[in-house]
Amino acid sequence: MALMKAADLLLLLILTLISLAAAEIRSTEIRSDDRPIIPFDEFGFTHRGRLELNVSRISLSPAPSDSELAKVGFFLCTRDSWLHVLQQLEEGDISCTLDSELVKRVFTFDKLQGDKSSINTVFSETDANQYALVLANCLQNPQRPLKISMDVRSAMYNLEGKSGQRDFLSAGRTVLPRVYFLFFLIYFVISGVWISVLYKKRLTVYKIHFFMLTVVLLKGLNLLCEAEDKSYIKRTGTAHGWDVLFYMFSFLKGIMLFTLIVLIGTGWSFLKPYLQDKEKKVLMIVIPLQVVANIAQVVIDEMGPFDKEWVTWRQVFLLVDVICCCAVLFPIVWSIKNLREAARTDGKAAVNLMKLTLFRQYYIVVICYIYFTRVVVYALETITSYKYMWTSVVAAELATLAFYVFTGYKFRPEAHNPYFMVDDDEEEAAAEALKLEDEFEL
Ligand SMILES: *[C@@H]1O[C@H](CO)[C@@H](O)[C@H](O)[C@H]1NC(C)=O
Repeated sequence: MALMKAADLLLLLILTLISLAAAEIRSTEIRSDDRPIIPFDEFGFTHRGRLELNVSRISLSPAPSDSELAKVGFFLCTRDSWLHVLQQLEEGDISCTLDSELVKRVFTFDKLQGDKSSINTVFSETDANQYALVLANCLQNPQRPLKISMDVRSAMYNLEGKSGQRDFLSAGRTVLPRVYFLFFLIYFVISGVWISVLYKKRLTVYKIHFFMLTVVLLKGLNLLCEAEDKSYIKRTGTAHGWDVLFYMFSFLKGIMLFTLIVLIGTGWSFLKPYLQDKEKKVLMIVIPLQVVANIAQVVIDEMGPFDKEWVTWRQVFLLVDVICCCAVLFPIVWSIKNLREAARTDGKAAVNLMKLTLFRQYYIVVICYIYFTRVVVYALETITSYKYMWTSVVAAELATLAFYVFTGYKFRPEAHNPYFMVDDDEEEAAAEALKLEDEFEL
């Protein structure tokens, strides 16, 4: 019983932590599993939802009697109901999850036919909500718990329109292909604008500006692949290889973006043509970690939230991501420190001070970007209803867009960029500001 409670609580924890409803057709192999509760997948149904369940190679050991088989089966359950089911179990109202009237029984094993080795069933869900597909195994005799082996294929989808076309994306994520495509168009336009800026200001263009162009192009291609990936999943339930392209571009984009943040942070190509050793070290930490982060991301996406190792990979990803995010801040801090010292000692205080302001702004914006795309988006994902799951994607993409635009605008190639020239008025004003700042710090 204690074991069962721990498992239930774990499921509850997972259900509350994960809001991403993976929506593909999913195949899972279960081997000699005696967990009382085995979650498979989560999906947001509209009032025309369907669950197609095909289970094969079922083997149960030790072989239970026919009456016992009614205590093993698949059910659908919402998060809210699950809380109440747990309560019912605790208060002893029911002895098995499947007895609760709050869960929707999809298939109990006493209905197995023929050689009892396969299930093929379609379940219609008419109450719109987000449900988890779960297997309950209430044969938990401590001496000989029932061990289950089987291959499970589950397909969840909603029917759309008069023709009843299948939509394999969870309700609330079904607009995602369009969202991604829209953002792709925006980045397409931005790339065009940036190319024209580079052309017009070609005398003051640095290598880093071409680097920025590459990052924007990769971001655009990444969004295009994601749109295509999601629209294939929407129509067919599988990605048809678009996910591979998507991962490739994500991978390149991830590495390039972090490298770009480090390079801008160090002032490479703007302030100096070389990198210091410690700055190179940051890159040597960040790039391999990005490789790990991307591998973890692929595993997380492909596994589905209920696989046993999912949580581990998720932790690996979060850890690596946090390290990368912290590491990219160091070069900016070093630059700020150097600029501040330079501003105190040499005569060109104004120029340095303006650079200093720029780097401080950049530092704050990088922190905001990281904080928003990691914490705020995660919080949004957790608190928004499954119907509006797309809003967290939009929020993350808008934040990213704002970050790209800010970086591009502030570090654009321009003759009167603070790196190059300052006229006398500005110089005086800046020198004044430096004095003020020194007093302030004292
Ligand atoms: C799964 O079962 C349903 C219901 O019997 C059936 O229509 C469908 O073709 C099956 N799918 C596969 C892949 O076997």
